[in-house]
Amino acid sequence: MKAIKNVKFDNKGDLYKYMNIKMVGLVTSEDNPLSSLSNAAGLLNQLLENINWVGFYLLKNEELKLGPFIGKPACTTLKVGVGVCGKAVADDEIKVVEDVNKFVSHVACDAESKSEIVLPIKYKGSIVAVLDVDSPYFSRFDEEDAVGLTRIVETLSKYIDWETLVKVLN
Ligand code: SME
Repeated sequence: MKAIKNVKFDNKGDLYKYMNIKMVGLVTSEDNPLSSLSNAAGLLNQLLENINWVGFYLLKNEELKLGPFIGKPACTTLKVGVGVCGKAVADDEIKVVEDVNKFVSHVACDAESKSEIVLPIKYKGSIVAVLDVDSPYFSRFDEEDAVGLTRIVETLSKYIDWETLVKVLN
C-alpha cells in the first residue's frame, strides 16, 4: 500500500482512518468553505493511489457544477440523472463503477478514466454535492473504498459551510 512519509498502510481501513483524522484537522482549521473543500481535494489526491481525477460537483437547481478538484480540466455542468454523478444524486446512493464504458450515460471528461466512485454529500438531510474519484484502472474501487470514503464525506458534511458554498454558484 501507499506510504506517506513515515506512515505505511497495511490495508485500506488504516488508510481511510488516517485520511479521516487528517481531513478533520484540515476542515476544522479553516472557516472558508471554498478553501476547506480545495484542501479536501488535495488530501484525497495525496493519499489515494491509482487515481487520475478527484473532486467535487456542487448541486444547485438540478445541476451539478464543477467545484474544487485535482486532475485534468473537466465538464463544468452535469445534469441530475445523467452520468455517474447525476445518477448518484437521482438515486441518492453511492455508485461504484468497475468499467465506465459499461455505465449507460457515463460522461467521459477524461478518456483515460476506466473506473469511478461517486458519493452523494448531504447537508441537513439534502444532497448538496458529490465526491467523484476516477481511476485509469478498471475495478479500482471496492466496498472498502465506499465505506472509507463515506466517513470522509460525513466529515465534510459536518464541518463545511455548504450553504455559503452553494450560494456562490450562478
Ligand atoms: N464521469 C463523470 C463526469 C465527471 S468526470 O469524471 C470528472 C460522470 O459520468 O458523471
